[in-house]
Amino acid sequence: MLKKFVYGQPIPTEAVIEDISLSQEAVPYLTVQTDKEGKMTFSSTLNDEDIVYGLGEAPRGINKRGHIYESFNSDDPYHTEEKRSLYGSHNFIVVSGKTSYGIFVDCGAQVTFDIGYTVYDRLAITPSVKDFVLYIIEGDNAYDIIRQFRRVIGQSYIAPFWAFGFQQCRWSYYTADEVREVVRQYREHQIPIDAVYLDIDYMEAYKDFTVSEERFPHFKAFVEEMKAQHIHLVPIIDAGVKIEDGYDVYEEGKAKGYFCKRKDGTDFVAGVWPGRTHFPDFLNPEVRRWFGHQYQTLLEAGIEGFWNDMNEPAMFYTDEGIAEAVDYLKNFDFSCNDSNKFFELGGRVGGLANRRKDYAAMYHTINGESVCHEQVHNLYGYNMTRAAAEAFQALVPDKRILLFSRSSYIGMHRYGGLWTGDNQSWWSHLLLNIKMMPSLNMCGFLYCGADLGGFGANSTRDLVLRWLAFGLFTPLMRNHSALGTRHQECYAFGDTEAFRGLVSLRYRLIPYLYREYIKACEQNEMLFKPLAFAYPQDKIACHIEDQLLLSDDLMIAPVYEQNAIGRTVYLPEEMRFVLFKGAEVVRSERLPKGHHFITVGLDEVPVFIRPGRQIPLCEPSESVDQLDTDTVTYLSFD
Ligand code: NOJ
Repeated sequence: MLKKFVYGQPIPTEAVIEDISLSQEAVPYLTVQTDKEGKMTFSSTLNDEDIVYGLGEAPRGINKRGHIYESFNSDDPYHTEEKRSLYGSHNFIVVSGKTSYGIFVDCGAQVTFDIGYTVYDRLAITPSVKDFVLYIIEGDNAYDIIRQFRRVIGQSYIAPFWAFGFQQCRWSYYTADEVREVVRQYREHQIPIDAVYLDIDYMEAYKDFTVSEERFPHFKAFVEEMKAQHIHLVPIIDAGVKIEDGYDVYEEGKAKGYFCKRKDGTDFVAGVWPGRTHFPDFLNPEVRRWFGHQYQTLLEAGIEGFWNDMNEPAMFYTDEGIAEAVDYLKNFDFSCNDSNKFFELGGRVGGLANRRKDYAAMYHTINGESVCHEQVHNLYGYNMTRAAAEAFQALVPDKRILLFSRSSYIGMHRYGGLWTGDNQSWWSHLLLNIKMMPSLNMCGFLYCGADLGGFGANSTRDLVLRWLAFGLFTPLMRNHSALGTRHQECYAFGDTEAFRGLVSLRYRLIPYLYREYIKACEQNEMLFKPLAFAYPQDKIACHIEDQLLLSDDLMIAPVYEQNAIGRTVYLPEEMRFVLFKGAEVVRSERLPKGHHFITVGLDEVPVFIRPGRQIPLCEPSESVDQLDTDTVTYLSFD
């Protein structure tokens, strides 16, 4: 049962694609307050036993209680506990308790969710603007509410089969030869792999849709050469278009007025990797068509997958910001003896990136009207990805193209997947990855994953192994690391056997994972679920955040602490415990309901099969297209 309420004159987000008529009915458990400026807050009381699920890509746990979250897509690589926003805004929550209800605040501007932070038993939701749509979803239980929501936001994007293979990324493999070497190492060590990523340095001076002739000569032939080895190359596309005379994308965008504006109508300028750039106005369908068709150059070179980046949009600086900082420095009073002034000085210079003031100075043209970026900030990456997906539909309608984005909003799940951005090589970020998967699935994002091994900071062999042991269950299984960090490819730590084993296990599971993934897309299901959804009567299970259900068949319990020899697992019912050592089963026994300590080596993966369930396993292979998916053996509970 869905209720829709419209406040003011919202800019359509197209997150919800089903026609829903306006509701006149009151919502007894929600109180509405309006402040002096007309800003509304919707609040309700949280009972002790209520669990609050949702918010997709957000910090903290599966149960969102006890913190405050701000939906405002942000380019911030430090995903620490106190953060309130990450790269995506997914304004859907479900309060699950005696009364269960879902709330979706459909609004491109910032929305704050205070979930028992200011007052421990109060949920308060405050959109930053007066124009938005509020949906209330009622149902029998949390999962029922989620499925209703998923139905009205439309079917999730389906990635190609090969995209379930293992993928290797790094910022950057600078030359074609470096890429060849990565592939050679994987093949030589017989570690399966299907894709290698091209980060920004494949481009000519970071110009979108160009390829450096010098570092990647004869690109089309190179793409072919890689395909002959069953490798897909996946180039990055950034949101900002370099300002450079003679660069066709810039020239055309400028001539046709396709870039975001300043208030005075001149093209807005911000610094990103290429230096000064303009941001295409993706909120305009004509611009989407134009930008989307630029991908054709790379499609024609044989590329079948893309990742869209820097599309919050990230701004390293603006001329206005620099001018303000310089002005401040010029007027700095050196005679003052006040440390606070010193900190302010640091802030002025260090705080040039992603300033709210700069976002507020950027304008879109929506249906002929100028709209401040702040109103639609969270829709930007969504519409960049939509631009690409719609163009693929027109250009290569019979092909599934891999597409995922860093920034997102609900609605984008129909066009592509997402990766969770610049995490760090921290154990806590492995746990964050585990907890985030069900929240993302709730909001329609099924093809997703984190940078396995961690992006920033130096990783360690054990962290990469433990992360792979979880990542082998996630649709996007990609190892990625940042410039200047220790290499963390599966061959980078000397020995490769444990890595080969884990990645090979992924390939054994691919027929099962892809089948369940497609089913989840087509039937509005979640691939990863909290235990509470299957065992609502079990108080212990309902509060477990480090074990997940994978589809309806399996429970997984990853190890996420350094030097742990295993972990305690709670079984809400009798299950079959299967331990893989690499790709092979080394233990299989039924365990009764209750707590168990299980020993899990760095090269091992535990799974728990639920009563009456079974999963198919095929033989591993070097790449997805060499898998024999017809010859399978079954692992079953019995
Ligand atoms: C930021 C992205 O999040 C990261 O994955 C990428 O490597 C860098 N940009 C460089 O393109």
